[in-house]
Amino acid sequence: MKLLAGCFSLFVCLAIHVHANTEKTIFLAPSAASLPPSLQALKLDVISPPSYELRRALPVAFPHPTEVDRRPGEVSWYLLASLNPNQRYEVRICWAATQPTEFWLDTFESAELLKDPLLERQLLQFTSESSIQRGQEAYDQQLSSHLLLRVTAAADFYTTNRTLMQYPPTVDVDIILDPYLANIFPKSLLPTAAYILVLALISWPISRFAWTLFSSGDSGEHHHVD
Ligand SMILES: *[C@@H]1O[C@H](CO)[C@@H](O)[C@H](O)[C@H]1NC(C)=O
Repeated sequence: MKLLAGCFSLFVCLAIHVHANTEKTIFLAPSAASLPPSLQALKLDVISPPSYELRRALPVAFPHPTEVDRRPGEVSWYLLASLNPNQRYEVRICWAATQPTEFWLDTFESAELLKDPLLERQLLQFTSESSIQRGQEAYDQQLSSHLLLRVTAAADFYTTNRTLMQYPPTVDVDIILDPYLANIFPKSLLPTAAYILVLALISWPISRFAWTLFSSGDSGEHHHVD
């Protein structure tokens, strides 16, 4: 059973990585709380059921190895809202392998964020300066299980083209919120799981058949040698 689970997760990883690179973070939704008005006013992009996916072109920056306290890339913020308290979710970010980028995903509870001046400054900086397209309306649900998602994007390539090194192009990403079924399995991977299960069910009798075929062929050969 453990082996099966291992094979299974390996397949799942392969299935994802064929299409694109992914980075993800897994979390338990906090209990419902009111969204502080100061955060509501920022009109962050909201990712909340029933729309689980957001497509954006994110600016990236090269990390500065010499400036230690500088942020390691371009930062953008999102609001994950209307979650089910205590349910497990994952947030994935997917991007094309042809755009080498490193991403970091972090989630914060709003109370925790407002207590940290550094985080708050970063958030305000994003909403006042960033050119990333944002939501048009403030999220108006007063009481909801919510988290703030921070995406940090750093360019991860080298080219002799100086223009590209100075102004790395934006990276197209999908940000996906994925609830876990029974808190153990991501819902969106269910079709992949079904596919693998069917493959396994079909290949089992075939491999048994092949095994009997070859092993009987084997014993026949032994006969000749003898
Ligand atoms: C560098 O890249 C930019 C953007 O892709 C391109 O327009 C420009 O022609 C390139 N320059 C050289 C010297 O290859």
